[in-house]
Amino acid sequence: MSGKVVVVNHPLINHKLALIRDEKTGTKDFRQTVSEIGMLMAYEITRNLPTKEVDIKTPVAIAKCHMLAKEVVIVPILRAGLGMVDGITALIPTAKVGHIGLYRDEETLEPKEYYAKFPNVITEATVLVVDPMLATGGSVCHAIDVLKRKGVKNITYVGLVGAPEGVKQVQTKHPDVDIFLAALDDKLNEKGYIVPGLGDCGDRLYGTK
Ligand code: PRP
Ligand code: URA
Repeated sequence: MSGKVVVVNHPLINHKLALIRDEKTGTKDFRQTVSEIGMLMAYEITRNLPTKEVDIKTPVAIAKCHMLAKEVVIVPILRAGLGMVDGITALIPTAKVGHIGLYRDEETLEPKEYYAKFPNVITEATVLVVDPMLATGGSVCHAIDVLKRKGVKNITYVGLVGAPEGVKQVQTKHPDVDIFLAALDDKLNEKGYIVPGLGDCGDRLYGTK
């Protein structure tokens, strides 16, 4: 059985997604809005995080409370995944952050790894792999492969815009991983870009084109 695919349908997310799809949106607003969507997505994604019951002494009595049972580790795929990290850590300030650096070879569209560093607690943590764009799915699947080889068991993917091709690849290769997106678009074009998409997310975040 495949993991679930959730397209988070929320008026604020939809509004902000329209802003970042607009080719007229410049670097400053694009970067800020990607971060804001990251925060809104985090609220949805963390809904089912495991909690444990704890007794808290209030000024009046003992209250039975629920606190997060496990560490959360965010793993952005560099570069574009970095754009969502501030928004997510705004909601989960204690989250640790690992990094994996990947770029797509422009000819083959295969991911090339150039960096990886993770916190020690990652194997037992709830891990959120973050990358705004799920195109062929090669980058996300590679990142998940690396994490699973390290012994990570609990992985969720969080993105903004996905293509059906990428969703299918993640579901096929990693059926235990749930997928959260802000939008599921139509297809990939001949250059591997998502249609209608929002263009090259890394370039738009960092002004490199
Ligand atoms: C983009 C994007 C994803 C990847 C998606 O990164 O941020 O990581 O492409 O494509 P895929 O699903 O076909 O693997 P890119 O390679 O452009 O690197 P960048 O983030 O450094 O710009
Ligand atoms: N990477 C991007 O940044 N955009 C796409 O449409 C596909 C891959």
